[in-house]
Amino acid sequence: MSIAPLFIANWKMHKLQSEARAFCKKFRENFEPLADGSIDAGIAPAFTSTQVVIEALQGQAGVFVGSQNVHWLSTGAHTGEVSAEMQRELGLQFVIVGHSERRQFYGETDEFVSLRAQAAIAQKMLAVVCVGETKEEFEIGETKSVVTQQLLGSTYGIADPSNLLIAYEPVWAIGTGLAATPEIAAGVHKLIREELNAKYGLEQGSKIRILYGGSTKPENIAELIVKDNIDGALIGGASLEVDSFCQLIKNARSACQ
Ligand code: PGA
Repeated sequence: MSIAPLFIANWKMHKLQSEARAFCKKFRENFEPLADGSIDAGIAPAFTSTQVVIEALQGQAGVFVGSQNVHWLSTGAHTGEVSAEMQRELGLQFVIVGHSERRQFYGETDEFVSLRAQAAIAQKMLAVVCVGETKEEFEIGETKSVVTQQLLGSTYGIADPSNLLIAYEPVWAIGTGLAATPEIAAGVHKLIREELNAKYGLEQGSKIRILYGGSTKPENIAELIVKDNIDGALIGGASLEVDSFCQLIKNARSACQ
């Protein structure tokens, strides 16, 4: 694989500042020996712990700090929102957009996901665009059409994909303990790669990292990461403890070597 795989911790609405600080201290000790350029890691804390995480990980090679959402405008009367410019100023390097929890519970649409991603990219941040079908859609065989539609809709208007990443997260696998089989995940990742290649050309399309998310654990990451077009993972539950997050990274790293 030409691009180093990336493992992003999505902390969702977890961890107070003290917990984030303790995590990062221990994480750094564990991650440092692994940071030889063969893998990258990312942490997306809640906004309140952003500064703490940035400070704790300052200077650590191979680790990105990001957020879980962003507004598409740079400034204005938008109570409760945070712009990409504000996040960039803090030192954040990536943004997760279109997570299924936002699509399911907060009315997120492809149109707004694409605007959020464009705003992040305009600030030279990485945009991690999430796509994935529900259990119902999976069961009636609509995975392909749902994922294609979300992918094209959510990347609409992104002309240069250098800072674009995709995360395939089947909704039925998120937080359920039931990860997609490596075969199912690889099949959807291949479809995503083909769509990206068609949209951006082989040269650029082949360089876009496609992460898998949904009940990844230290025990199942190796069989997923060795598959073609699985370039890393977006990790929820298993990223909340340093031991499981680092073990997952270590297992993935050994499987790739
Ligand atoms: P999970 O969450 O690893 O707990 O399934 C993944 C995600 O929601 O990004």
